[in-house]
Amino acid sequence: MSDFAASIRDAYATEGAAIDLGRGVHDGALATEAVVQLPLRMMNRHGLVAGATGTGKTITLQTVAEQLSAAGVPVFAADVKGDLSGIGAAGAPGGPAEKRMTELGLPFAPVACPVEYLSLGGIGPGVPLRATVSDFGPQLLAKVLEANETQEQSLALVFHYADSKGLPLLDLSDLRALLTFLESDAGKGELEGIGGLASSTVGVLLRALVGLEDGGGNEFFGEPQLDVADLMRAAPDGRGIVSVLELPAVQDKPKLFSTVLMWLVAELFETLPEAGDLDKPKLVFFFDEAHLLFKDATKAFLESVTQTVRLIRSKGVGVYFVTQVPDDLPSEVLGQLGNRVQHALRAFTPDDARSLKAAASTYPTSEFYDVPELLTQMGIGEAAVTTLSDEGVPTPVVHTRLRAPASRMGPADDVEGTARASPLFATYGARVDSESARELLAARMEKAAPKEARGQRPKKPPPAPGGGLDQLGDFLSSREGKAMQKKVMRGVFGMLKKRL
Ligand SMILES: Nc1ncnc2c1ncn2[C@@H]1O[C@H](COP(=O)(O)OP(=O)(O)OP(=O)(O)O)[C@@H](O)[C@H]1O
Ligand SMILES: [Mg+2]
Repeated sequence: MSDFAASIRDAYATEGAAIDLGRGVHDGALATEAVVQLPLRMMNRHGLVAGATGTGKTITLQTVAEQLSAAGVPVFAADVKGDLSGIGAAGAPGGPAEKRMTELGLPFAPVACPVEYLSLGGIGPGVPLRATVSDFGPQLLAKVLEANETQEQSLALVFHYADSKGLPLLDLSDLRALLTFLESDAGKGELEGIGGLASSTVGVLLRALVGLEDGGGNEFFGEPQLDVADLMRAAPDGRGIVSVLELPAVQDKPKLFSTVLMWLVAELFETLPEAGDLDKPKLVFFFDEAHLLFKDATKAFLESVTQTVRLIRSKGVGVYFVTQVPDDLPSEVLGQLGNRVQHALRAFTPDDARSLKAAASTYPTSEFYDVPELLTQMGIGEAAVTTLSDEGVPTPVVHTRLRAPASRMGPADDVEGTARASPLFATYGARVDSESARELLAARMEKAAPKEARGQRPKKPPPAPGGGLDQLGDFLSSREGKAMQKKVMRGVFGMLKKRL
């Protein structure tokens, strides 16, 4: 065995179960003894899959995801182009996948993963994934609305007001009704009571809402909201279920889907208990087109993302960002990604060259490679890999020829049929429309209008002590109002935490 093969094999050796990534390449030759693998128990140390278009990022994700599934770990992955759906079908013998496995000296055993296909609010095939506006929270909503810091803070005040008045914000029509109310003559008094919220900002938010309503928000926001426990299931044979969020139908709504992915991460964070160090993660999350999340983000938003990513590790969740160049991600996030699979980068433009230099600088120096040169010269389905060893120490960078998936490379045949046959479809297939802020405010304003028209004072019992002439006073003292005045708490991103 060559020095290279022995050195890589030893550096990547692990005591426990591992994800097999591929075999090392040095001086142009494949070393089949140079096993490059990632300890399963280090999968919650997060990671990065990067590389120019067409270099093999999606296939890498698929290869890792199907091994996780086989090890009993549920996986969530965003499928931006629809080509990851093939993970639910067996691979084809005699094709490029078998050729790759044979070259690596490995058996090729085609198999399909247990899969759930999800869609954003039912746009395109897949079980509809929805969330309530209230749970999504003001900060993530502000991100989708491209709000500035002031607007973000104003939205937080509006959410707080809705909570305190027991007005459920389920879908965008509820938020619209509330903002409209606050802007109206009837709501003026209320608006003044919310310190720091300007009527002009309410107007700006109302106008920004139009784009979101037409841009997939009407479909996505509402009930029933996805219970993240449904992403953490195992098949009857013990394999982890791979939940694939099909995004081809909303490719033109990148702001929405990237924020929804972050909502899912944050929701997992809020829901799961502390887990400490586990033999294998509870869930691995693949976050595709991750650069979209950070584009034009406010400082507060970046801090929330960074904090969530840092802390979710101890809840047993690994997050893998997939993007073209590493410097798409803020350095605070990048610094937390212990497992790196860097596919080839191109260096056509000065910008490319800068990104390449930045990418190379994040790797430890190598006794076997000139890293910048390696990053431009690898072939398709090859990557520069560094991971965390059993001891949590970064492994030496290695040019890796990656395994091929046992499931199909390319789209599945019947995503919609599979989704409709899923038990999740019975739960999430149809939207439900519970009584919420829109109806409550409409009823309130209707009641107020004729009275004003008659110029009479409303005949109602004297207001409760401290209640004043609260526009919502009689709603709040009503039966529904009382039922909804539950104590609410908000976590990172201002999400509604599960009520105790
Ligand atoms: N590990 C692999 N083994 C065999 N073939 C591979 C492997 N990785 C990639 N390929 C081949 O390269 C093609 C492109 O790979 P892939 O779709 O993963 O690229 P990508 O980086 O995700 O591109 P994009 O940025 O456009 O999404 C695959 O369809 C497959 O034919
Ligand atoms: Mg891809």
